[in-house]
Amino acid sequence: MARSNAKTVETFNYGVVRQFAVMTVVWGIVGMLVGVILAAQLLWPELNFDIPWLTYGRIRPLHTNAVIFAFGGSALFAASYYVVQRTCQARLFGGFLIPFTFWGWQLVIVGAAITLPLGITTSKEYAELEWPIDILITLVWVAYAIVFFGTIVKRKSKHIYVANWFFGSYILTIAILHIVNNIEMPATMWKSYSAYAGVQDAMVQWWYGHNAVGFFLTTSFLGMMYYFIPKQAERPIYSYRLSIVHFWALAFTYMWAGPHHLLYTSLPDWTQSLGMVFSLILLAPSWGGMINGIMTLSGAWYKLRTDPILKFMVVSLSFYGMSTFEGSMMSIRTVNALSHYTDWTIGHVHSGALGWVAMITFGMLYYLIPRLWGRDKMYSTQLIEVHFWIATIGVVLYIASMWIAGVMQGLMWRATEPDGSLTYSFVESVKTTVPFYAIRLLGGVLYLVGMVVMAYNVFKTVVGEQAVNPFIPHDLAQQPTPAVVVAKA
Ligand code: HEM
Ligand code: HEM
Repeated sequence: MARSNAKTVETFNYGVVRQFAVMTVVWGIVGMLVGVILAAQLLWPELNFDIPWLTYGRIRPLHTNAVIFAFGGSALFAASYYVVQRTCQARLFGGFLIPFTFWGWQLVIVGAAITLPLGITTSKEYAELEWPIDILITLVWVAYAIVFFGTIVKRKSKHIYVANWFFGSYILTIAILHIVNNIEMPATMWKSYSAYAGVQDAMVQWWYGHNAVGFFLTTSFLGMMYYFIPKQAERPIYSYRLSIVHFWALAFTYMWAGPHHLLYTSLPDWTQSLGMVFSLILLAPSWGGMINGIMTLSGAWYKLRTDPILKFMVVSLSFYGMSTFEGSMMSIRTVNALSHYTDWTIGHVHSGALGWVAMITFGMLYYLIPRLWGRDKMYSTQLIEVHFWIATIGVVLYIASMWIAGVMQGLMWRATEPDGSLTYSFVESVKTTVPFYAIRLLGGVLYLVGMVVMAYNVFKTVVGEQAVNPFIPHDLAQQPTPAVVVAKA
């Protein structure tokens, strides 16, 4: 056992994977804590204590950047670096570029955590960071591409496993999106102006914004799904052919759907229709991928009874299916007329983010952590089970409350009297939403508690402690089971 571990360490670079895996947990807690504070501020606005750095407008982008780029980004670096090495049977390429991607990315995150509360922002959603940080992101990303594709080039296996196609397309696409959307003219050290104006600015921004969701929060995590679900289920992918069709159809279709963020705006009508049609088509590859993942469990469904890691993975796929169905429906103009500006959008976002992105990440981490530190398994399987249930209840409370609040807001805002005047004032709709904000806060707190439980489990696994099963009295747990006694006899 010890010898095979030593060999693995020599063959693969697990050091950087370990670093990113640990930071995924750290940034997950930080980003979600800020999410909980935001949710609390919507209930009790005085929680900003009249301190400018803590105001809602400043810490909201802090939350989105922390959860997407710090938590999600670290998880993706860890996943892609692990998967590309294992499936190519090659050590990471790139020498000093490898630690540069880790430290450079952490620097980007720290830069975001300082500048956003100070109010330094480009004001483009999900691309708020100012130009010096944008340049650092570009450098890190180019290094990432060299490391990833360099490893593919030096691979020992002939075939390029499908997960790497997903990771590769995410790396390439994010590079293009980031550079094009951030073309800007610096005015001072911390202020720049976008190269685009008016409707072009909006179009480029939501081409970026939508594909950031499509490639940073979806395609990449599908790469994770295609490696870790077959591994954990100990079954091959249900249909390898479907995974290839899924890849090309998804990559092609996502690119055109951005205008569904700009329905009923001054964007030309035909571009809005194009966005809507492609968003509806997008349902097919999305569900193709979901079905491929779920069907991989064929013949292994019984494992769900005892394996909480697999539960995380399967539930994440269900949320993926649900949020993509919902997204396609919300792209229909008449549905969007109701949902836009309401908390329905926030519910949709978090069914994708908490249900899909974070849950598949938890599944991956529970698979990966023991392997990275040479342990047989996680410190406590019971705690994984506890995390699974707290997180699932948390997501359900979050998204159900936001759906109800969103539909209610949409209906209240459009209700009119026979004389054409509005039935409800805006303030009335806000007052009616308050109980749902409380339920969302509860859901968020539960989700965060689950993260802390995971952090404890990870810590105990890394330091190498063995859990004591709380359901078996301690002295009994120490005794050999009858079967062992019989075998010895
Ligand atoms: C077939 C797949 C999907 C489609 C067609 C889709 C469609 C949509 C639509 C129509 C909106 C509302 C736009 C608006 O009214 O402003 C939206 C918002 C959003 N969706 Fe999706 N969605 C999909 C999947 C996902 C997934 C899987 C995630 C997350 C992992 C996600 C994250 C988001 C985010 C973050 C926003 C909010 C953007 C913003 O205004 O800041 N979507 N999506
Ligand atoms: C404990 C967990 C979380 C809580 C309590 C939480 C809470 C919140 C709140 C209160 C908002 C602002 C909503 C508004 O302005 O009306 C928000 C926005 C957002 N959150 Fe979270 N969040 C959590 C986790 C996550 C995760 C894990 C992700 C992504 C992986 C995420 C992605 C986003 C995005 C993209 C937005 C902006 C949505 C939009 O502009 O339409 N959140 N979150």
